[in-house]
Amino acid sequence: METRSSKTGVQQHAQLKAYTDWAEYHSQQDPMAVFYDTKEQHMAEVCRTLWATGYVAQFGVDAGHTLRIMASYFRKKVFGFDAWHTKGPGLPDRWTGNIDHSRAFTWTPQSFRELKKSMPRNVKLVPGLFDKQKIQDALPKGDAALISIDCDTGASTTTVLEAVRPTLGPGTRIIFDEYANYAGWRQHEFGAWQRFCEKYKIEYEYFGICEMDVSIEITDIKG
Ligand SMILES: C[S@@+](CC[C@H](N)C(=O)[O-])C[C@H]1O[C@@H](n2cnc3c(N)ncnc32)[C@H](O)[C@@H]1O
Repeated sequence: METRSSKTGVQQHAQLKAYTDWAEYHSQQDPMAVFYDTKEQHMAEVCRTLWATGYVAQFGVDAGHTLRIMASYFRKKVFGFDAWHTKGPGLPDRWTGNIDHSRAFTWTPQSFRELKKSMPRNVKLVPGLFDKQKIQDALPKGDAALISIDCDTGASTTTVLEAVRPTLGPGTRIIFDEYANYAGWRQHEFGAWQRFCEKYKIEYEYFGICEMDVSIEITDIKG
């Protein structure tokens, strides 16, 4: 128990509240998500058991740790969208999560070229700030099978969801990397997804969860 005010004490308290809030929310879901030991196992299981056909894409790639896992499960092209060297350090919007990202995700044209060369052959990287038209032009025609949203903020998540909306349908899975279990979780990827589902009358079930990462499968779209 800390007896003097400290950033750590406040953070611990906020983290505990976030756990409780998510646990209560999650316990009311039917079915509840399966708990995986690591985010890599979670992603692997989402890919391995995917039954929907269509494109596979990730939004928020950075150095590509999870994009490489996704790509290893598919022979088809897997798309990766991120700003990389086309923006300055940090995220384009404020993320009030559990870490300061203001100096992270910094790329130069040279380091981006090296990243591209190091990617599996079936990966196509699309650099630039997310933009609805640009995303739609870059993706193949047809449905979405699997989308990974790892761009942290609600604003970026909304841009991505609006861009892919015509391609979503029953069976489409979405993995959100910063969905739950941190202070402010309801304001970012979770909040964007909830508003989107309400707007377009999308029904879904939870599939998996590990730390902050949660996956869903769309069951119906009534909008
Ligand atoms: C947490 S990192 C991604 C981590 C990565 N998926 C991995 O497996 O390590 C978040 C990324 O989202 C990108 N991002 C967030 N908002 C964006 C936007 N509006 N346009 C382009 N990229 C964005 C950032 O540039 C950053 O690289």
